[in-house]
Amino acid sequence: MSSHDRKERFYITTPIYYVNDLPHIGHAYTSLACDVMARYYRIRGIDSRLLTGTDEHGLKIQRSAESRGETPQALTDRISDNFRLLAGEMNVSYDDFIRTTEERHKEECQKLWCRLYDRGDIYKGKYAGWYATSDEAYVEESELIEKDGKYVVASGAEVEWVEEESYFFRLSRFQDRLLDYYKSHPDFVYPKSRYNEVVSFVEGGLEDLSVSRTTFSWGVPVPGDESHVMYVWLDALVNYVSALGRVDPPSALHEKYWPADWHVVGKDILRVHAGYLPAFLMSADLPLPRGVFAHGWWTSEGQKISKRLGNVLDPVKLKRMYGLDQLRYFLLREVPFGRDGDFVRRRLCERNNADLANDYGNLCQRTLVLLSRYGEGIMPRLEGLLAGDEAFLLKVGEALKCSEVAMERLGFDEALSEIWKCLRMANIYIDNEEPWRVVKEDRVRGVLILGVILEVLRRVSLYVWPFMPDSCDKILDLLGVGLEDRRMESLEKPVAGGTQLPPPEIVFPRLREEEIEDGT
Ligand code: MSP
Repeated sequence: MSSHDRKERFYITTPIYYVNDLPHIGHAYTSLACDVMARYYRIRGIDSRLLTGTDEHGLKIQRSAESRGETPQALTDRISDNFRLLAGEMNVSYDDFIRTTEERHKEECQKLWCRLYDRGDIYKGKYAGWYATSDEAYVEESELIEKDGKYVVASGAEVEWVEEESYFFRLSRFQDRLLDYYKSHPDFVYPKSRYNEVVSFVEGGLEDLSVSRTTFSWGVPVPGDESHVMYVWLDALVNYVSALGRVDPPSALHEKYWPADWHVVGKDILRVHAGYLPAFLMSADLPLPRGVFAHGWWTSEGQKISKRLGNVLDPVKLKRMYGLDQLRYFLLREVPFGRDGDFVRRRLCERNNADLANDYGNLCQRTLVLLSRYGEGIMPRLEGLLAGDEAFLLKVGEALKCSEVAMERLGFDEALSEIWKCLRMANIYIDNEEPWRVVKEDRVRGVLILGVILEVLRRVSLYVWPFMPDSCDKILDLLGVGLEDRRMESLEKPVAGGTQLPPPEIVFPRLREEEIEDGT
């Protein structure tokens, strides 16, 4: 049994988002993936916690506030709110939203710093090097490109030469311990290809990390030396711990949820999460997360997303155009989680029409209409099933089990494809059984066929619920499933025979791309 199989509680985190940008599809994507996982465990009765938030310190924010004539606090308050609103718009069921400018964070951050310092893992030295301000990163001389008499890096960010007194974290000390840890925890980094990338990165050698700055003041002050503020990555990574409250003595939340099950991040920030974070935690003598999952990046209609190209995908606009659950489904179904993907609107419409409107919605609608026509909309008792019905239900059960295995590894596309196998089987079943014909000769049998399909739709909807909670709730309403039975514990409990179902309604309308208007 791997460490990811421990089930009594579940803690998952999104990265905390920089507040120098408006929320875009990349932010929505990570948060949605985490939301699906948190809901997946919740519906299984597992106490699960989802953390998200904003990363608010650093030179970039300080400068950006100055240039607008605002205080950094006012700027971060305003922009952080956009991320909170985005989570609401995307139906992301977060349990906590942390801001690195909150006192609770700063306090724990300082205490952790002291722990690292007391261990002898932080020392004072001098840093000199090229710094790319808008990337918030020091860069190697070899990465510099000359442009219009200035130096820039590949991202286009300008660099400046910085010399400053700095505290350093003895990252080099942790190289062997990290490598041992990866070896004994092959599930620590997902997907597998990313695991290899992290191992080679650490094998390549780790230098001590500069963890403080004196060139700006918008940050967490270093305890005992307030001319320094903490380097943004140290400050930011600590959020996953500080959000749970006190470490020493541990708060109830810390005891219950630390370490996290998954830190879900984009591929660009995998190394800091799978390399720096574990080293900080080892130094602080805190348990390491069970896993770090790196997802890929979206392009838009084949092009890199950039403000310059004006093709930034605004998730709220997309929601207005296509529907929230349609967007949630597309993002997690279209591309295997971990790979890069291309956002193609035509594909979203096709997927919506084939998977949601046809396979799922139409099956539901058709069956319910037949039941209301031939069975007065009353759910039949599932008695007198034929061998073929039993075999069909068994196959459905097997596919749903396979989807669980995929979900444990954040294999959303695979899980959905297993679930959709059930819907395809159900569509074949209804076509083969022809209940509309059978009811005319044997009403009881005809209605029973409809009952079997509705039972499959009920089970499927419980599995799809974490992905599309609103739509599945609508379907579960139509299927007569009480609120108390919308959980996996009730999986084996069909809707009672004799239940009067509400009038059928279409849940997933078809989308015609040419009719969709830009929602601005
Ligand atoms: N503040 C840091 C994270 C600190 S976590 C302790 C940060 N913030 S960010 O706002 O720049 O990025 C947040 C996430 O958005 C990252 O995981 C990044 O990979 C993701 N994405 C940014 N653009 C993206 C796409 N085009 N596609 C998918 N995800 C992308 O980094």
